[in-house]
Amino acid sequence: MKFTTALLSVFLFLTTTASDNIYWGQIGHRTIGHIADGKLSKKARKQVKRVLGSETLAEVSTWMDEIRSDNAYRYANTWHYCTIPDGMTYETAPKQKGGDVIWAIEKIIKELKSGKLSAEQEAINLKFLVHLVGDIHQPLHVGNGTDRGGNDVKVKWFGTDTNLHSVWDSRMIDGKQFSYTELADWVNHPTKTQVKEWQSASVRDWAMESMSYRDQVYKAPESGRLSYRYSYDNFDLVKQRILQAGVRLAGVINEIYK
Ligand code: ADE
Ligand code: ZN
Ligand code: ZN
Repeated sequence: MKFTTALLSVFLFLTTTASDNIYWGQIGHRTIGHIADGKLSKKARKQVKRVLGSETLAEVSTWMDEIRSDNAYRYANTWHYCTIPDGMTYETAPKQKGGDVIWAIEKIIKELKSGKLSAEQEAINLKFLVHLVGDIHQPLHVGNGTDRGGNDVKVKWFGTDTNLHSVWDSRMIDGKQFSYTELADWVNHPTKTQVKEWQSASVRDWAMESMSYRDQVYKAPESGRLSYRYSYDNFDLVKQRILQAGVRLAGVINEIYK
């Protein structure tokens, strides 16, 4: 192996193992965007088209991950998650430097509602919103403060070294081998009552819900070897959180552009 190739592999190894997972995988985010797209009011649909042009909510949903490599957006690096220790609430938990996912969603919605953003900033805000409403529904994006949202919990997923956060972001979902439209078709069957209830909850409620699943999420074999059984026990919750995120994203966008 040439020296440069060796150096590159060392670098790739270090960067891929050291970097945190801070987003639902692409399928999760796109599914949420796709579900929301189908629930927009006529008015909101028109405004979204004005802001995003030819791109759909599903297509822009992962943009906030792509810009993590762009220093111009470094200010948003901490916006994907928040930390609320067991027994605390958002209000009593220590404030996160740089902003957290709850603060960011509330701020973004307020700015969009003001109608005072430039066209460019409005598009940025809308793309951030699509992504972050997804993130806050991933239970481990509301961390307990001990393990960086499960990033420090090393596990083996079907024999491959990874961590609990990654299992929830993407590994369970990717294991199903669905496209995002297929996953949307599968989960997109809320009752009218569910839509009403879900859309009337606040951003802070969404985070408290995520916290409430901690016992279930951390209930893993001592060995750290996760496979079929963990997915069997948890995939219904993955589906539920994706559906809730999609339904609520549509609710928020409809409210912004009403
Ligand atoms: N870093 C610290 N807490 C985190 C979380 N809950 N999710 C992702 N990254 C984190
Ligand atoms: Zn994540
Ligand atoms: Zn994210």
